[in-house]
Amino acid sequence: MIQLFFRKHYRLIILLVTVGVAVAFGAAYYLRAPRSNLVGVSFSNDDVPRWQVESDRMQEQLEEKGYDVAVRFAQGSKELQAEQLQELVELGARVIVVNPVDANNLIPVIRDAQAKGVKFIAHDRLILGGAVDYFTTIRMQDVGRIAAQRYLVAAAGKNLVYIAGDPADTNAGYHHDGTMQALEYAVERGDVVLQGDLVTDWSAKSAYEVMKEFLKSGKEVDAVIGGNDLIAIGAQKALAEAGIMGTFIAGGDADVAACRAILAGTQTITLYKPSIAIADASVLVADHFMRGEKPPIYGLADNGFMRVPSSYVEPTVIDATNVLIEGTTCSPRS
Ligand code: BGC
Repeated sequence: MIQLFFRKHYRLIILLVTVGVAVAFGAAYYLRAPRSNLVGVSFSNDDVPRWQVESDRMQEQLEEKGYDVAVRFAQGSKELQAEQLQELVELGARVIVVNPVDANNLIPVIRDAQAKGVKFIAHDRLILGGAVDYFTTIRMQDVGRIAAQRYLVAAAGKNLVYIAGDPADTNAGYHHDGTMQALEYAVERGDVVLQGDLVTDWSAKSAYEVMKEFLKSGKEVDAVIGGNDLIAIGAQKALAEAGIMGTFIAGGDADVAACRAILAGTQTITLYKPSIAIADASVLVADHFMRGEKPPIYGLADNGFMRVPSSYVEPTVIDATNVLIEGTTCSPRS
């Protein structure tokens, strides 16, 4: 009986089922929550001027492209940054640009969010040990290498003190690697003697303290290569207090304070990192991800878990011949 009914009306039944499924899908489409338009931006700190410039630029450019933007600064606390990332995910961010305080603690938060479809872009600092969707960088290996090459060319004397940034930041190690690789042959030949291989937390205060402590050893110092300008400034203070003059000093970031020191002759070079270019690189990638597209890839960076798709921005040397200070920014004169 039932079989006969189905056989007789099978066309009608198929039609009704098809219409029913279509109506259900249509209703689900209209009833679902609107797709979020939010891009999250999470910065480690505002300890150096470039982070403010880069977050401002990203916000401006992303808003211009029609996105909502939420920016957070973690004040150097890795725990606060993990909470802020969680908050950005809860606010509905579909893409988050992260400049990590610590390369090692964010993967659990990132992994959970990625399971919900959120994409993560590591901005300037790599995140280790898990899946990261993209890495935009000014390679610190290049920054260290260029600083070392400038020091070799300057023939400033063989006694070198190297001062690294925070070990929790991959950039500190990369800068050290780039510097040491460039100095390898000079050290082997004895043309350069690494008198000190010191470590800081990126701050001027810590650089001042480690340099002051080092100077108690009585070892000679002809040159100091620091991972950034805050380190260079801290080292200068310790050297000045010890009455040591004429040292070759390299920093990085082109902070206005360092550029003034270059003009005053107490710092030799800084490595300019184009903030606008790297901010725009992260915006470009975020925009692709928001539109569900694949961003262009220029290289791969090994983070111990995978080779992370990357793009690179080149640093430029600033010395007394090309330093240009305009208001609160410093750049190489072209
Ligand atoms: C950046 C430097 C910066 C430092 C401290 C590093 O990751 O590469 O440009 O000065 O962090 O914030």
